[in-house]
Amino acid sequence: MFSVQGKRVLVTSSTEGIGRGVAEAFAFHGATVTISSRSKDKLTKALNEIRRVNPSVYGIESDMTNQDSLHFLVSYAKEVMGGIDILVVNTGNPPREPITFSDTDLRDWEYSIRLYLLSAVTLSKLVLSDMVSRKWGRIFFLSSWTVREPQSILVLADVSRSPLLQLTKILSKDYGRQGITINTILMGSFPTEGATRTLSRYAESKGIPFEKIWKERVLDPIAVGRIGNVRADLGSLLLFLSTDMGSYITGTSILVDGGTSSSVG
Ligand SMILES: NC(=O)c1ccc[n+]([C@@H]2O[C@H](COP(=O)([O-])OP(=O)(O)OC[C@H]3O[C@@H](n4cnc5c(N)ncnc54)[C@H](OP(=O)(O)O)[C@@H]3O)[C@@H](O)[C@H]2O)c1
Repeated sequence: MFSVQGKRVLVTSSTEGIGRGVAEAFAFHGATVTISSRSKDKLTKALNEIRRVNPSVYGIESDMTNQDSLHFLVSYAKEVMGGIDILVVNTGNPPREPITFSDTDLRDWEYSIRLYLLSAVTLSKLVLSDMVSRKWGRIFFLSSWTVREPQSILVLADVSRSPLLQLTKILSKDYGRQGITINTILMGSFPTEGATRTLSRYAESKGIPFEKIWKERVLDPIAVGRIGNVRADLGSLLLFLSTDMGSYITGTSILVDGGTSSSVG
């Protein structure tokens, strides 16, 4: 039903956490996948583990905040896979998050805007012309439900990635007739190293036990009463949208948050 067999997928920031789970979802369903992140050790480990299931997985070190590195990443992915049919833009987190506005400085903002916004702009530019020539493509920007309900301690991320909603809409209009769909995915809570790290820092700064914060800020707001599973809950949506069954869904933002968001907009 969800065949992505033979599709060539670039998933960025994908040696751990959400990106890793998404890369696995595609790889385990027969796609050819390129993964990336900054650390060579993480890359080697992830490649070894994913290749046990699907040998058609490639990887290269790349920093989402560095434009040259993004150009190199796309060249590499095109070379090893022969092209890119599906782009999944995932990122890490600003190093000083969680942080409130008054504690941020210009360097935090520059990093965050390069990380979330400029990376998505550059990667989209680099993949779209080939997608147009093939008259098929998928672009996903992985974002968060918190862009609809911004959180004080996530000010860097929420403000920096909100414009991707506008970019999603504009690109969907520009490229819809070329067989290319563009969507933003508003993710809820998934159990990752990054989520644990961010929440631990927050708990420490407030002098509150991690378990209490985890329950009150993460678990309790989830309507379905459980944390998400990246491959099953997020991966399956991306697989569906990557087939021709998903070809009528574009220019939108889709919540995958177990009902966390209270927004109706
Ligand atoms: N987890 C959640 O519940 C949740 C919910 C909503 C949204 N999100 C968003 O989803 C994204 C991923 O979160 P996560 O929880 O999966 O994080 P994570 O567990 O920390 O994983 C981040 C991955 O990205 C890589 N990375 C970090 N900074 C990078 C950079 N500058 N360039 C390239 N790769 C980089 C890391 O590897 P290296 O260190 O080797 O680079 C790692 O592979 C974040 O933007 C987060 O805000 C997460």
